[in-house]
Amino acid sequence: MFEKLSLIPPDSILKIISEYNADHRPNKIDLGVGVYRDANGNTPVMSVIKKAEKYLLKTQESKAYIGLAGDPDFTDGIQKLMLGDNNLPKDRIFTIQTAGGSSSLRIAAELLKISSKDICVWVSEPTWNNHEPILDSAGVKYKVYPYYDTKSNELKFDQMIECLKNIPSGDVVLMHACCHNPTGMDPNPDQWQQIIEVMQKCNLIPFIDNAYQGLANGLDEDAIPIRLMIESFDELIISSSCSKNFGLYRDRVGGLTVISRNSEIAKKVRSNTLRIVRTMSSVPPDHGAAAVGHILCDEKLSNEWVLELNDTRNRLKNMRMELSNALKAKTDTSDFSHIEKANGMFSYLGISPTQVEKLKLDYGIYMEGQGRINVAGITSENVDYLADSVFEVL
Ligand SMILES: Cc1ncc(COP(=O)(O)O)c(C=O)c1O
Repeated sequence: MFEKLSLIPPDSILKIISEYNADHRPNKIDLGVGVYRDANGNTPVMSVIKKAEKYLLKTQESKAYIGLAGDPDFTDGIQKLMLGDNNLPKDRIFTIQTAGGSSSLRIAAELLKISSKDICVWVSEPTWNNHEPILDSAGVKYKVYPYYDTKSNELKFDQMIECLKNIPSGDVVLMHACCHNPTGMDPNPDQWQQIIEVMQKCNLIPFIDNAYQGLANGLDEDAIPIRLMIESFDELIISSSCSKNFGLYRDRVGGLTVISRNSEIAKKVRSNTLRIVRTMSSVPPDHGAAAVGHILCDEKLSNEWVLELNDTRNRLKNMRMELSNALKAKTDTSDFSHIEKANGMFSYLGISPTQVEKLKLDYGIYMEGQGRINVAGITSENVDYLADSVFEVL
């Protein structure tokens, strides 16, 4: 039965992990894998999550299924985090709990497909390496819009705007709310406003991937594009993930929020979404979302979470600054200031695939082939070695 299947090459990141693990050089550096690391190179469980888990252990009396739409403490909590205080009628919005951001994106893609067979989703060039496969697997057409110039390491803002102006009315535009993966480069609030104006004029539908809220400039600051959009569009799709901002990667915690034109349409959208969920994976996993729901309902725990998240964000910013300074000190001919301007965990280092390969072979420094680095892999101890090695391969 399976003879006709062809072999699918493993994800490039898995190859990097196994090569890194097999490397015995003591000064090797992993800048590939997309998880946060602290100054000691660990991906710790947040202490506020430990507290919420203790609470769950004490109070949870059943492992019976939760509802298809998930835990209301969680869905109300993340909806408020994203949308803030707003005047939208509640019956036009719904949020469901999903198994991480990936599953939210897939459910949204399935929803788009059943809503309109001909719909096309426009993704940034480049974008997270699972966006296109997710759309493809759902049978949704996609095209790319210009986003990042690898020569100048800046946004291709004017080209993006020109492209948006020519997208057919009714198409969907997938955008990263903040901490664009893989480049880390986000539009500023002014640029968001311009993007929104063009999209509104051209009747395009925003589909926001909100996977890093709190890791760029703060929880409210990072939600600026979403909050501007809810003022401007009657229809909006938001996929969110708690993998990074709550450190819950393996617990699979995320949400899908859809805003519809009116309450009648919202009811239909919700029922269709729940049918997709039921037939794809049925009820969502409970544990991680229950912990997040508990934190978001408890003021003291919420405040503790914000402080921990601030530490995470500050460490990322500091490592960006340290790397940029170390490279500046080494190489007066090259400009690496874009590393400091970018947000969140990722940046393009701005080196060629050959130089990426040389860093791996000669110096034990691992990153994705396009030169995407996870700045959480940098520490004050390894930053000079990293800058020296980059200097050597340039
Ligand atoms: C842009 C983006 N969207 C969505 C996700 C999905 O995250 P998860 O499925 O782990 O919650 C990621 C994870 O790396 C991401 O970078």
